[in-house]
Amino acid sequence: MEKQIPVASRASNIEYAIRDVVVPAAILEEQGHQILKLNIGDPSAYPGLPTPQHMVDAYVHALQKGMNGYSPSYGLPELRKAIARDEVQKGWDAKDSDVYVCHGVTEALQIVFASILNQGDTVLAPGPHYPPYMAYPQMYGATTVEYKLKPDDGWKLDIDDIESKMNDSVRLLVLINPNNPCGSVAGAEEVNRVLAIAERWPNCIVVADEIYDGLDFTGEHVSIASLSSSVPVFVLNGVSKVFYAPGWRIGYLAIHDPTNRLIEVRDGIERLLRSRLCASTPAQYGYLAGLESDRSWMAAYSSKVVAQRNLCIERISSIEGIEVESSGGAFYMFVRLTDPKWADNDKKFVLELLHEEHVLFVHGSGFSPTLGKGHFRLVYLPEINVLNDAFDRVERFLLRHRSA
Ligand SMILES: Cc1ncc(COP(=O)(O)O)c(C=O)c1O
Repeated sequence: MEKQIPVASRASNIEYAIRDVVVPAAILEEQGHQILKLNIGDPSAYPGLPTPQHMVDAYVHALQKGMNGYSPSYGLPELRKAIARDEVQKGWDAKDSDVYVCHGVTEALQIVFASILNQGDTVLAPGPHYPPYMAYPQMYGATTVEYKLKPDDGWKLDIDDIESKMNDSVRLLVLINPNNPCGSVAGAEEVNRVLAIAERWPNCIVVADEIYDGLDFTGEHVSIASLSSSVPVFVLNGVSKVFYAPGWRIGYLAIHDPTNRLIEVRDGIERLLRSRLCASTPAQYGYLAGLESDRSWMAAYSSKVVAQRNLCIERISSIEGIEVESSGGAFYMFVRLTDPKWADNDKKFVLELLHEEHVLFVHGSGFSPTLGKGHFRLVYLPEINVLNDAFDRVERFLLRHRSA
C-alpha cells in the first residue's frame, strides 16, 4: 500500500457504536439475509410510526412556495417563537431570542462544545451515555468523565458520584432525560439535587438533553430549566424523536440564563451559528407545523410504543440469561447479560447473535466501556410480531451457548 497521508487524531478517535454494528449487518444483507433490526433509534425505520402528514405537507408546501434559500442563522423567527412558547409551557421563561435552531441536537452539541470547552476542561456525562458526549469533547482538548447511573436501581442518577466528580474543570454537566441508552427518567427530586450541586460551581453549565421529553411514560419528567433559578441551562430538543422526523435534521439549543452570566458565551455561540449559515429552511417549516398544530396524534403513537415496551419486559423476564430494569421513557432498554460468558464480552454477544440469528442490537460497551459493559441496547420501535420473533431467536441463541 502507498504511504498514507496522516489523518487527524480527532477524527480517527471517533467511534459511534450505534452505526458501527451496521457495517457487518449490511454485509449479511448483501448476502441475502434479512436482519431484524433493534439497533437504531429512528422511528421512521419501523412501520406504524410515520412522520405526521400535516408536518410533511408543510415541508412540501415550503418547497413548492420556493422556500429554498438560506434563512436566518438563529432560525426562522416564527419557529423560534413557537419553540420559546413550547418551552414556556414546560415551565420557564424562554424568549424567542433564547432559541437557536440547529441541524439537530447533534449540531447544537457541537456548537455548545466548541463555544465552551478549552484544553483541560471536563464534561461530566452519564455512564452509560449517548456516544457523541464522549466523542466530541476530545476535539477541543477536553475530556469526558462519566458519572454513574445505578444499574440495579432503575438507572437512577448516582448523586454522590456526581458530587465526588465535580471540580473547577467541569464546564458542562450533562443530563439526558429520558436517557439514551437506558430509558430511565429523572424526576424533580433527582434534578433538584443535581442543580444544587451545580450551583456550587460557578463555571459549570447544565446541558439538558430533553430530546425524548415527550416520550416519558412515567409522568415524572420535568423540564430541567424550569427548576433552575440560578444555574445556567442549555436546553436541547428537536423534531427527531417526539415529532418522528429524524431525517429532517432540525433541533434547537435554548439558553436559560437566570443570573445573566452567559453574555460572552451567547456571543460566541452566535458567531459560530452565523459562520455555518443556517439550518435547512423548508424543514424548519415542517417542524413549525408540528409545534403549532394539535398534538393529539401523539397519544396513539405513545400507546403503540408502550405496548411494545411492555411486551419486551414480559419476554425478557421469561428468558434465562437476560434481565432488564423497566424503561420509563424514550424507546430504549438496556438489557443485562447475566451469563458471565457474555457479560464479559457484550460485543461478541451482539456480533455472534447477528451472524447466527440475524438479530441486531448495539453492544452496551459502545455506550460506556466500563459502565455499559455486559449489556446491550434494545430499541422497542419494531412491531410486536418482529419483537417476538427477535426474542425467540435470542432465547434460542442463549440456550445453544449456555455456559456449562
Ligand atoms: C440523547 C440523544 N441526543 C441527541 C440525539 C440526536 O438528536 P438529533 O437527531 O436532533 O441530532 C439522539 C439520537 O439518538 C439522542 O439519543
